[in-house]
Amino acid sequence: MAETIPDLRSVPKPRAYAELRGHSDAILDGITDDVAAMATIATLVHHAFGYLWTGFYRVVEPGQLLRVGPYQGSLGCLDIAFGRGVCGTAASEMRTVIVPDVQKFPGHITCDARARSEIVVPVKDARGDLIAVLDVDSERVNAFDAEDERGLAGMVSWFASRTQ
Ligand code: SME
Repeated sequence: MAETIPDLRSVPKPRAYAELRGHSDAILDGITDDVAAMATIATLVHHAFGYLWTGFYRVVEPGQLLRVGPYQGSLGCLDIAFGRGVCGTAASEMRTVIVPDVQKFPGHITCDARARSEIVVPVKDARGDLIAVLDVDSERVNAFDAEDERGLAGMVSWFASRTQ
């Protein structure tokens, strides 16, 4: 495998995500394993943009409980109940949540005190069932916008389109 992770910190987001998607599509070609895909997507996003924490929380009890999956960064909390924190809110409402300033989000779960803003994107399978959320945390306030929502949703659309 000859793929390397590009540094996309100064590239306009639409182009950055298109490039990253190209890498993940190439790496995941022929792969059907969710954990392998989560690990690959987490490391690509994390290192390309230089984030604080990037990873997946998997649905282990539908409607009830998320558990940490493949991630990059400092130690993450292990379990998050649906409805709790940013991840639990995104999971229970099945929508992307962008938090420009985590200190202003009531109930934000602090795993790393350096986190200042975050985005959490739902991950669905081919049936449209929620299987995980992708959580990305930045040390900068207001790091995420609609371009990130689009770009990250594109990255995790792999889980809905994988063959098995
Ligand atoms: N920020 C999350 C908790 C998980 S960690 O930051 C890794 C939240 O409030 O859902």
